[in-house]
Amino acid sequence: MEAYRLLYPLRTYLIVSGRLGDEVNVMAADWVTVLSHKPTIVGVAVSPRRYTHKLITKYREYVISVPSIDMLDDVWIAGTESGPSKIEKLRITFIKSKKIVTPSIREALANIECRVIDSRDYGDHTFFVGEVVDYTYKKEAFTDNEPKPTSKFLAHLARYKFVVFNEEVFTPSKT
Ligand SMILES: Cc1cc2nc3c(=O)[nH]c(=O)nc-3n(C[C@H](O)[C@H](O)[C@H](O)COP(=O)(O)O)c2cc1C
Repeated sequence: MEAYRLLYPLRTYLIVSGRLGDEVNVMAADWVTVLSHKPTIVGVAVSPRRYTHKLITKYREYVISVPSIDMLDDVWIAGTESGPSKIEKLRITFIKSKKIVTPSIREALANIECRVIDSRDYGDHTFFVGEVVDYTYKKEAFTDNEPKPTSKFLAHLARYKFVVFNEEVFTPSKT
């Protein structure tokens, strides 16, 4: 058992990088985290072996797209194939982002637009730190500043296995 796997299940996201045309790319990423609320800063660990690493380094932008389980086959392709040749296999539509040139994904439950403010190598990954400059989301998936448990957010269990959240909501006895 590898130590990092003890932190799973982790939510899986899609990282969009580059520019529409020959240079756009999408990869799957579990290692995404919030670092600050105001301003909102979100980081992602990307191996230098990924084509995505090249594009984020070049353009200093990325979009974190939130897929639902309905996009699982696309998540799998994005997470197992490298480079723009996989893009035509994906059943996704790129749409304009609001503040950055890197596009967003229409089918995703949300798209978070980030500009890189820092990056640093840790072991075999680079941690890209991005300030959130804008975002879009599907109103039916989030209400009252909360995700709806019925939105089928996907989480990674291991290798090719994924899970969704049970719709049951628990609250502590004293709130
Ligand atoms: C569910 C899942 C999660 C992944 N999470 C990460 C991650 O957080 N960081 C990373 O560098 N690679 C991660 N990968 C691997 C990349 O998505 C994969 O190597 C991909 O082919 C890279 O694409 P690219 O070379 O086109 O950028 C993940 C793969 C899967 C299937």
